[in-house]
Formats: sequence, C-alpha cells, structure tokens
Amino acid sequence: MENYKTGVLKLVFVFLTLPAVFCVQPGNIINPGVLTQSKSLGDCQACKLFIESFKNGLERTSRGKYEGGDAAWEEEKLKKSYKRSEMRLIDIQEGICKEKSKYSIQCHHMAEKSEEFIEEWWAQNPDESDDLFSYICIEKLQVCCPAHHYGKDCHPCPGDHSNLCSGNGKCRGDGTRKGNGTCLCDPGYGGEYCDKCSLGHYQSYADENKLLCSPCHMSCMGGCRAGTLKDCAACKPGFIFDSDEGCLDVNECDEPKRCKQEQFCMNSIGSFACFNCHSACNGCHGDGPDMCRKCANGYSKKGEFCVPEREGDFIESSEKLTMTR
Ligand SMILES: *[C@@H]1O[C@H](CO)[C@@H](O)[C@H](O)[C@H]1NC(C)=O
Repeated sequence: MENYKTGVLKLVFVFLTLPAVFCVQPGNIINPGVLTQSKSLGDCQACKLFIESFKNGLERTSRGKYEGGDAAWEEEKLKKSYKRSEMRLIDIQEGICKEKSKYSIQCHHMAEKSEEFIEEWWAQNPDESDDLFSYICIEKLQVCCPAHHYGKDCHPCPGDHSNLCSGNGKCRGDGTRKGNGTCLCDPGYGGEYCDKCSLGHYQSYADENKLLCSPCHMSCMGGCRAGTLKDCAACKPGFIFDSDEGCLDVNECDEPKRCKQEQFCMNSIGSFACFNCHSACNGCHGDGPDMCRKCANGYSKKGEFCVPEREGDFIESSEKLTMTR
C-alpha cells in the first residue's frame, strides 16, 4: 500500500512544482488546473476511469501469481488464497491508472479518495465487481448518479426515461451529481423537451415517437417549410427572391465598381470578394498579366499579356502566373 501512495505523492509533487519552476515571471496568473490537465474530466467520468482501471487490474491478476506449482492441487490452493489476498489488491493498485490516458492524474486522485472504500469492499466481496461502480462512484464518493438521474441528490430526469428529451437531447447532468435536469437539445432541436425544431430547421419527419428536424437551405433566413431554396420564409443577404426559383444567389460582381481600381471581383454563393490585380496591370478583370484592362507603367501589351518593357523580367512574371492560377 505504501508503494502506491508514495508513487501518487511523487506524481502530485512533480505536477505542483512544474508550474512554479517554469512560470517565474512576476505577475503571471497561474491556473494550476490548466497547467496540469489540458482538459479535465468531470468527477464522475474520472471515477468511471478509475473503476475501469481497477477492473483491468482484476483481469490482469485473475490467473494468480503462483503459476508452475509442483502439483496441480497445490497450485489450485495457492491460486485460491491469492485470489482474495491483500497481495493481489496491492498488485492491482500498483498498476492502477497506468493505462495510456491524458487523465491519469484525475484517475489517481479518485484512486486515492476511494482507497479505504476499496479496501472495505475487497475484504467483503472481491468476486462481485459488477456493482463496483455503483458502490464507489455513486454510493461512497457520491460523484455519479444512476442513469437518467442528475444533481446533488440524484433526482430522476423529468419525463419518460425511455424517451428523455424526446430522444433529441439529453438531461443536463444525466448520470452525474451535476446539472439541473433540464434538456440540452441536439443541434436543430429546441423547446423545453426538444420536441420542436429550432430556427433554421424544419420538421422533416414526425410520428408519435420521433421528430426529425433538418436544416433549411443555406439561402434561407428565419426558417423554412422544407429543405429547398424555394421553401424559405425569407432570403439571406446576398440572395434575392425569385418567384419561380426561390432565393437565388446575387452576382455582386455584375455591379460595376464593386472593387477598387487595382482589384478584380469574384462572386461566391451568398457573397463576393475582391483580389488585387497582377502587378503588370493597371486595372483588370481577373488574375494574371493576361487579364489586364490596361498595362501598368513600364509594361506593354504583347498578345494577351502585359509584359515588362525591359526584356528579361518577363520570365519572372510568367512564372508567377503559373504559380497563382
Ligand atoms: C439549468 O442549467 C442551464 C445550464 O447551466 C441553464 O441555462 C438553465 O437556465 C437552468 N435552468 C433552470 C430551470 O435552472
């Protein structure tokens, strides 16, 4: 037992002192939670992780320690005595939370907090590991609740437990000592019991048991009655309503002078963007020295291209063309 404890203490020591060593700048605000664990688990999840690890340990030590005894009956006897021995518990605890996981510190913390309860349990019924989770995480450490229960006192989640939050969300805090039992709806769903479609979604299927919501077409604003661009309640900016076609993309680039003199315009669905002309151009309608309206100073037209009047620079600019297209 001592080995295990000092191991944990060493680990905790290292993690508490690391920030102090590296953050010596005065005025640095140190949040040890952030430095020791990039992301942290809830206590209930950490307890689950610990129980998993303990069960791995049970599995690992299930074949006993005294293999290769002289006689089969002897081996059998030793196995039996090891099975419920203090030694086996120590063997399990020495490997506890050693699985590859970024949450091993939290796992160790749970191992430490539950040590006395584990010992109690081990003395009574080490064969029944099925309810170890309930015993440790729900009953003793009180960090989890049974499924479909939430909060400090493990209240049942409101509603029909086979169809919580209409099957479109979960009860806040379900299975933990946190939360308030209200529904946290999946994206696309809303209402107190996730039994409505949220804004930007429409009802694509419904019967007594199931409601399915799907997103409106991207051109819609403020909801829709179905999924195409003809079903929008209104059109988003960048789209225009057409009585036959629905919400159509506006080609902003059709309007002259959308962009600055040294730029050209590119339309995209719902929007547009301006890009700088090639350096050979003085105004352009696209990318490259063959898209100029006029040539820039020091350049003159050669076929489609604006090329430098000093020969030799041309190679560079035609290379550039292949790079940017
Ligand atoms: C329950 O918790 C959520 C999230 O923390 C909060 O937004 C909501 O207002 C709470 N509801 C009630 C009834 O306390």
